[in-house]
Amino acid sequence: MMFTYFDHAATTPVHPEVVEAMLPHFTQSFGNASSTHSAGREARAVLNRSRDTIASFIGCAPSQIIFTSGGTESDNLALFGAAAARKSIGNHIITTQSEHHAVLHACEQLELQGYEVTYLPVDRTGRVNVRDVEEAIRPDTILISVMFANNEVGTLQPIREIGAIARAKGIPFHVDAVQALGTQPIDLSSLPVDLMSFSAHKINGPKGIGALYIAKHMKLQPLFYGGNQERKRRPGTENVAGIAGFAKAVQILREEMYEKQQNLEKLRIEMVTRLQALLGQEQAVVNGHPAERVPHILNISFPGVSTETMLMNLDLEGIAAASGSACTSGSLEVSHVLKAMRLEDEITRSAIRFSFGLGNTLEEIGAAARKIATIVDRVRNA
Ligand SMILES: Cc1ncc(COP(=O)(O)O)c(C=O)c1O
Repeated sequence: MMFTYFDHAATTPVHPEVVEAMLPHFTQSFGNASSTHSAGREARAVLNRSRDTIASFIGCAPSQIIFTSGGTESDNLALFGAAAARKSIGNHIITTQSEHHAVLHACEQLELQGYEVTYLPVDRTGRVNVRDVEEAIRPDTILISVMFANNEVGTLQPIREIGAIARAKGIPFHVDAVQALGTQPIDLSSLPVDLMSFSAHKINGPKGIGALYIAKHMKLQPLFYGGNQERKRRPGTENVAGIAGFAKAVQILREEMYEKQQNLEKLRIEMVTRLQALLGQEQAVVNGHPAERVPHILNISFPGVSTETMLMNLDLEGIAAASGSACTSGSLEVSHVLKAMRLEDEITRSAIRFSFGLGNTLEEIGAAARKIATIVDRVRNA
């Protein structure tokens, strides 16, 4: 049976050129970047070059990037780090109900530590209202955190507008850009953002490596204590192979981003068109914003067929898809994002996320759409 992978929002295959770029750092060039001998200096040079590549792609200075273990750590460092550093100023944080758990659960923990958090609602398309953000700001607000692109429905948030408001009020603004990197141009030299989270494994890089952009003026308390690595903001021996892989993935993106974006858009539209032609528009309902969205994520409901039943049948047909948050794929809880969007019960209970990427083809989409339509008919007529 053919295996079809439509779960690129959960993780992506590592690009062969990324693997090639990483390999020497496990065997030949394996030095510790803090060592003063030649092997160490070699590792340090790889770190520097990698940081330069990533910084120039996102429009910031290399010194503004801290390498972390991934999106989760970047989000946690941003939230706990900024909250602790600004505690004397206030204790109020603003975020949205549709953030990734790396932000939501960190905020819940901050509440236990005495911070107050406002979780703003989103509309039926998953967008937060900029006016709601403005109205939630109080004299004691110390941080705003809103994601760039939602990992479940693909909706883009108005981060430029929110950032402008935050800047005007002098409040630091954190953006989780884990699902945006790779399809959305990011230029931090013009974006009013103070902290931005990234993860390599969503862009055909390796797992376990990510980055946090930290604006020059930003004060941040570290999560860990140890050596002097990453300007003391994230001590610990650097994951040189992972960082080299992350930089290679970014370098490939730089060359192919437009083409990639167009291709993903075609794949997503093909899936929707095929499914709606086979099942009818009311039987294949697309969730999320129709235009303000990333191209690789399609969240679609098949009323009458539960998410659980569909995922099980898709798996039997060799199709990997997801429900709920990327990081809890397979979880059967109703997604907090769809709940926040206040969609009808039959829509939230039958939602499936297909996410596309490297290696997917239009032919695969056609074959998968036929299988999905067959499953829907079979389950509905059972
Ligand atoms: C929006 C978003 N933020 C954060 C994360 C966590 O990233 P990582 O898996 O690198 O910890 C994910 C992963 O699914 C994500 O989609």
